Amino acid sequence: MNVLVTGAAGYIGSHCCKALLDAGHQVIGLDNLFRGHAQAGEILAARASDRFQLVVGDIADRVLVESLLRDRKIEGVIHFAALAYVGESVDQPGSYYRHNVGGMQVLLEAMHAVGVQRCVFSSSCATYGEPPEQLIPIPETCPQNPVSPYGRSKLIGEWMLRDLSVASARAKRPFAFAAMRYFNVAGCALDGSLGEDHTPETHLIPVVLEVALGKRPHVQIFGTDYPTPDGTCIRDYVHVEDLARAHLAALFKLDPARFDQHAWNLGTGSGFSVLQVIEAARRVTGHAIPMIHQPRRAGDPARLFSDTRRAEVELGFVPGITDLDEIVRSAWQWFRTHPQGYRSASR
Ligand SMILES: NC(=O)c1ccc[n+]([C@@H]2O[C@H](COP(=O)([O-])OP(=O)(O)OC[C@H]3O[C@@H](n4cnc5c(N)ncnc54)[C@H](O)[C@@H]3O)[C@@H](O)[C@H]2O)c1
Repeated sequence: MNVLVTGAAGYIGSHCCKALLDAGHQVIGLDNLFRGHAQAGEILAARASDRFQLVVGDIADRVLVESLLRDRKIEGVIHFAALAYVGESVDQPGSYYRHNVGGMQVLLEAMHAVGVQRCVFSSSCATYGEPPEQLIPIPETCPQNPVSPYGRSKLIGEWMLRDLSVASARAKRPFAFAAMRYFNVAGCALDGSLGEDHTPETHLIPVVLEVALGKRPHVQIFGTDYPTPDGTCIRDYVHVEDLARAHLAALFKLDPARFDQHAWNLGTGSGFSVLQVIEAARRVTGHAIPMIHQPRRAGDPARLFSDTRRAEVELGFVPGITDLDEIVRSAWQWFRTHPQGYRSASR
């Protein structure tokens, strides 16, 4: 299939491109490199130069997007491009609505104009907000009440897709989509080729590994008095390679003639606490990883993990890498060989 991957130079997008290339597909990556890495594109091009190209550009550039969709005969879009920090979205809501909503709207209009029939969308468990305890593990039917501009921008993305699907059905123009609601994405390519390089870094596993690399003095633990076995928050960590596999499965599952609309949670169905992650990192790296305790942060629920049954039954998605040490080991393999992130590779 000819696939356009937006956000292809970012963490999850690059891993998904790798999975598509390894499965023999033709991939055009589109990324404005605001948070992505040209080196990730070079690594992907080296893997399959005749089947991959990274185009540097913005999803809000209607002329560019439409010409890519038309000229490259794109059959499906996997849409990762977005700003993705909850905290930043609270301080800069305008940027989040501009990129995640405005940019996506242009992308969808271009897809509709050209007649691209499949869209797999990076949504997030942030669209659920803070579900009540009785709805954990969180099913897809959980009410979506996001508590941040980031979460709201992702929910609006789902609404735009639903509305486009309705309009497409009325016009008898085949179209299908899947909203992939990720939990905490973690780990790096098992072959060491691609990694996670966010600036600023806010995700727990990379932050902990930066302590092991000596780039941070300690890891801060926000809240040690939660109603969990060790008092720290519990989150659901899904490996990035499993996630990439789920996107391929979704792309091929979609039936545009039936105007499929899907929403799938992508997690493992169980969680690990902050302390368990730090313990795993100590075992994997051999580093003491000092920590300091901080008060709870506003809006951090005690436990968040997914009900995975729908993704398993409908998509056949069963995560393969669920051992925490294995997840952390795959990340550490990349971090210790790329202490400066992708910049290490270009030196
Ligand atoms: N990392 C997680 O744990 C997680 C969890 C839930 C959802 N998500 C979603 O997954 C997607 C990918 O996340 P990630 O962690 O790989 O982030 P990332 O920042 O590494 O990747 C996003 C990429 O999109 C690009 N981009 C942003 N705005 C763009 C625009 N307007 N035009 C073109 N390119 C643009 C950036 O340059 C970057 O390369 C995002 O949509 C995010 O909301 C991530």
